[in-house]
Amino acid sequence: MELPFAESWRIKMVEPIRPSSRQEREQWIRDCHYNVFQLPAWQVYIDLLTDSGTGAMSDRQWSAMMMGDESYAGARSFFKMKDTITRLTGFGYVIPTHQGRAAENVLFSALVKEGDVVPGNSHFDTTKGHIESRKAKAVDCTIAESRDTQLEHPFKGNVDTEMLDRVISENPDKVPFIIVTITNNTAGGQPVSLENLRQVRRVADKYGKRVIFDSARFAENAYFIKTREEGQANRSIKEIVRDMFDLADGMTMSAKKDAIVNMGGFIATRHEDWFEGAKRFAIPFEGYLTYGGMNGRDMEALAVGLDENTEFDNLHTRIHQVQFLASLLDEYGIPYQRPAGGHAIFVDASKVLTNVPKEEFPAQTLTVELYLEAGIRGCEIGYILADRDPVTRENRFGGLDLLRLAIPRRTYTDNHMRVIAAALKNVYDRRESITRGYVITEEAPLMRHFTVKLAPAEQ
Ligand code: F0G
Repeated sequence: MELPFAESWRIKMVEPIRPSSRQEREQWIRDCHYNVFQLPAWQVYIDLLTDSGTGAMSDRQWSAMMMGDESYAGARSFFKMKDTITRLTGFGYVIPTHQGRAAENVLFSALVKEGDVVPGNSHFDTTKGHIESRKAKAVDCTIAESRDTQLEHPFKGNVDTEMLDRVISENPDKVPFIIVTITNNTAGGQPVSLENLRQVRRVADKYGKRVIFDSARFAENAYFIKTREEGQANRSIKEIVRDMFDLADGMTMSAKKDAIVNMGGFIATRHEDWFEGAKRFAIPFEGYLTYGGMNGRDMEALAVGLDENTEFDNLHTRIHQVQFLASLLDEYGIPYQRPAGGHAIFVDASKVLTNVPKEEFPAQTLTVELYLEAGIRGCEIGYILADRDPVTRENRFGGLDLLRLAIPRRTYTDNHMRVIAAALKNVYDRRESITRGYVITEEAPLMRHFTVKLAPAEQ
């Protein structure tokens, strides 16, 4: 008999979690105005709010922390981290930052100015925020296939290179760089193929432009290249990673994802002028160049995490779990962005809660229903997150309305996946009876989803 799949690790330390009663949850969700960001974490049973900083470190990472060198300047831990990054990516210049958005802030302060145009594939919220706050424009050039959740496509995160070419040819002097997000979080944790990265490079070279990878989930991207792209199956993750970064000029990194640390990030590049430019902002914003907002011990853990998570077994265990959850949803007929992405399942709420009008936020309604059902905290990636149009102040209903179930790395077991799927099925089975959603009672002008207050729409 063929042996079944099992995780490539065993568990050495556990953290208790506790289910709650429906009655308790009804009170708690009312108390937080139907916004799950406002829930204290102890009121959550299975937390799928994000895969960012929520992973479990390995014994090797924890033991590396004991070796942290906390010297203000020139800490040994910095060089260990830098050497690991250079070995994996080929980038010789490295600046630590406290997380991914800080890397964006520092690098973009040097590179982005008013009136610029920055093309890319579904810029992450903070990336877009750091572009728009500098009065520049982020142009989304993701392939159109990404917007049809039911369409199967192996690399739904890809850049539409014809559109990219057009955007640059129309703004030849305004494009400071192209940014490619790997994997493409907003489109559903969808990967970008090596071939597509090569095409992006060709377009960049045609116009003499540089390319940045937003690399939060670059290792998961390499896993998909290995398992889905022709000719890549027999290559190691580390070889593929190097091929990917050979096509870029620099990277911003949220180490909270694929380096499996709770906090941390960095900028890396092969260009001295970018390094010199970023240096000027790194020191006042983040700290001296060899710590940039990180403890020595955290840089040690980051270095080990990067090495571990660019090994096939670790990634295979992780993606296998996401795909296991997807297979259960398939069994129950629950629609999500297909195929399953690297770090999360994105349930297509507009196809589930068809009786809830878009003005009453179906994905947010589904998020609340799943919490009420089983204490599971997902996250709306939909009409609330989309904010209002900056000019008309109307809600933006143009994009997808999704419930993201982000799976933390090495944190939950497949039994938790079974609970998540069963809870969703229960909500799905009574979807016809859910006819009303929520209305906004209070909101911030920008990034409203973190603090928005909601109330049930009149019954
Ligand atoms: N880029 C991508 C693709 C991201 O997904 C994130 C964060 C960032 C940049 C910013 O990094 O949080 O370290 O400052 N994504 C988290 C999420 C918050 O839940 O998807 P950060």
